[in-house]
Amino acid sequence: MNNRDILKNKLAEAKLGGGQKRIDAQHAKNKLTARERLDLLLDKNSFEEIGALVKHRSTDFGMDTLHYPGDGVVTGYGTIAGRLVYVFSQDFTVFGGSLSETHAEKICKIMEMAMKNGAPLIGLNDSGGARIQEGVVSLGGYADIFYRNTQASGVVPQLSAIMGPCAGGAVYSPAITDFILMVEDTSYMFVTGPNVVKTVTNEEVSSEDLGGASVHSEKSGVAHLTAANDLEAIEDIKKLLSYMPQNCEEQAPKVEYTLGDETREQLTDIVPDSANQPYDIRDVIDGVIDTDSFFEIHKNFAPNIVVGFARLAGRSIGVIANQPAYLAGVLDVASSQKGARFVRFCDCFNIPLLVLEDVPGFLPGTDQEWNAIITNGAKLLYAFSEATVPRITVITRKAYGGAYDVMNSKHIGADMNFAWPSAEIAVMGAKGAAEIIFRREIQAADDFQVALADKEAEYAAIFANPYRAAERGFVDEVILPEHTRTKLIKAFAMLENKVDTIPKKKHGNIPL
Ligand code: HXC
Repeated sequence: MNNRDILKNKLAEAKLGGGQKRIDAQHAKNKLTARERLDLLLDKNSFEEIGALVKHRSTDFGMDTLHYPGDGVVTGYGTIAGRLVYVFSQDFTVFGGSLSETHAEKICKIMEMAMKNGAPLIGLNDSGGARIQEGVVSLGGYADIFYRNTQASGVVPQLSAIMGPCAGGAVYSPAITDFILMVEDTSYMFVTGPNVVKTVTNEEVSSEDLGGASVHSEKSGVAHLTAANDLEAIEDIKKLLSYMPQNCEEQAPKVEYTLGDETREQLTDIVPDSANQPYDIRDVIDGVIDTDSFFEIHKNFAPNIVVGFARLAGRSIGVIANQPAYLAGVLDVASSQKGARFVRFCDCFNIPLLVLEDVPGFLPGTDQEWNAIITNGAKLLYAFSEATVPRITVITRKAYGGAYDVMNSKHIGADMNFAWPSAEIAVMGAKGAAEIIFRREIQAADDFQVALADKEAEYAAIFANPYRAAERGFVDEVILPEHTRTKLIKAFAMLENKVDTIPKKKHGNIPL
């Protein structure tokens, strides 16, 4: 065989992974292979593989006779919509995609390249975890990856798609990355699997119920996005990337947009007359942003706050909005965590923030207090306070209590604060306030109900509007809903070259 044929054979062997039988088994589970996934993810002919011929070094348990070039992970670089990305795609057909010393080295190599060259890192995870035959060196390999995930955090966007098993400590690499996307029915994530759970706690649970896509997207909040299959997951990754810059030094790509009449009449009637009637904040989001540009994150987790990427006159923005249609938009532990994480991502990567505020306050009760609403609410407060990107708030209705401060108020550094005429900015709702401060008068009155209604009206007349706040300059302008989009386009354009810094420090200590 001549040199060219030797190379050709080796590359063909690498392409075949663990062999046709295992590829068929992968397909039978409704999963694509590592290479098929990369083909769909990257622009045609853009993929350049690195380390296709790498082999593991283990010799125990007969491993010296079992070699698959590439060792269970395909790594390299390519482009998505013409923009450079670094990728790794674990190959379940080779030792179940398990992570050996060399498999880890390949991933670490491209992580370092991603950091040095300032381009996103995308990991397609499908692995049985640490390569059992290798023992501690594979554990070390994981730690090498975790360390680099942490170093890369805030430098380049890191996206993790979970497209098969992800168990044990292996979950911590995706957990350190910016976004986790899980494929329904074929992926799961847990620190300890059902067997260990049964042994330790006697609890019987399936993999799906312990760590499937719906569990992590609804209950734990570990997964930011879910997709019905591999194909949809890959399309979601591409879409997500389109809102992000390549790295922390750059701005997100801008989509061409020609300004026209930006008045949006559909915004006028969204907020109901009654302060206690719900409405869907997504209608406000849709009325403000560019048509069909909203990409919601964490949709099924903590629905009382809505977060996601959008475009405004072609520019990427991050939207954080209280949702009056769920728990009246109250802030609780989960919604505070959700909001804080999203704010910090946007701030890392120069994506301006738009806050739509309609919040009755923090959720009271033992459940919340015992689960540290103090610490968790502080996360959101801290995240906004520290963010230096352009920040604008629109108060559509309620801005009550501590939640007024937390939801990107001027006091914690918002650049612009608009309010609709329907805004109510007060320590609490008029009824609760009247019951406390006029308690004696109400109790002494002949007709308790009439006295309460009078006092409620008195309090509401003073505070259930945006004008006290506007007189103080806490609200910059009271605007009509239909003019919101125009005002925001102008204000964000005005803030485009904003430079702001935080005091010199090693790093802050966000209340984790
Ligand atoms: C070596 C592994 C492997 C592993 C799977 N395989 N996991 N080889 N190390 N961790 C191999 C299998 O032997 C099999 O080889 C092939 O991959 C496919 O596996 P199957 O079991 O046939 O597939 P399936 O039925 O789909 O089950 C997949 C699975 C199961 C659920 C992932 O294989 C499994 O439970 N594996 C072990 C998971 C685990 O406990 N990992 C360690 C977690 S602890 P053949 O040759 O038959 O095709 C950990 C610590 C990390 O990861 C710590 C970091 C801090």
